[in-house]
Amino acid sequence: MATNRTFTMLKPDSIEKGYTGAILEKINAAGFKIVAMKMTQMTKRDAENFYAIHKDRPFFGELVEYMTRGPIVAAVLEKDNAVEDFRVLIGATNPEEAAEGTIRKLYAASIGENAVHGSDSDENAAIESAFHFAGREIF
Ligand code: RTP
Ligand code: MG
Repeated sequence: MATNRTFTMLKPDSIEKGYTGAILEKINAAGFKIVAMKMTQMTKRDAENFYAIHKDRPFFGELVEYMTRGPIVAAVLEKDNAVEDFRVLIGATNPEEAAEGTIRKLYAASIGENAVHGSDSDENAAIESAFHFAGREIF
């Protein structure tokens, strides 16, 4: 089933390097409408919960450290086929493998510090949106 909403975070490296505007511009230019957005800083507990699926991976500690070291921008995006199309727009997890023109190819430094998050399923898009925007009328 084609989905119409996904969830994204511009990760701390994007904010630190001043890429926020450029990345949001690319998201809009690709036809995504921003339906909710905020800048916030995740606590260690937030990041551990958000990425709980990776808790047994060797990079988990680094991932939590990275995601909590500064502010992020969290947003809910709307478009036909949102989840899949957004994963195409951001590119592969490792920027060295990401296609030309993708957000990670343009703005990510490494597999660990890769500029942006995109939900990988409808179910996770709903869970992740609720994680950051729970209590809002539209969710
Ligand atoms: P995301 O969930 O953030 O959109 O990234 P993804 O689906 O492309 O990749 P995933 O496998 O879910 O990994 C989550 C995040 O963990 C960091 N990572 N580091 N050092 C490493 O080998 C490694 N592998 C993954 C990245 O920040 C990745 O986006
Ligand atoms: Mg993922």
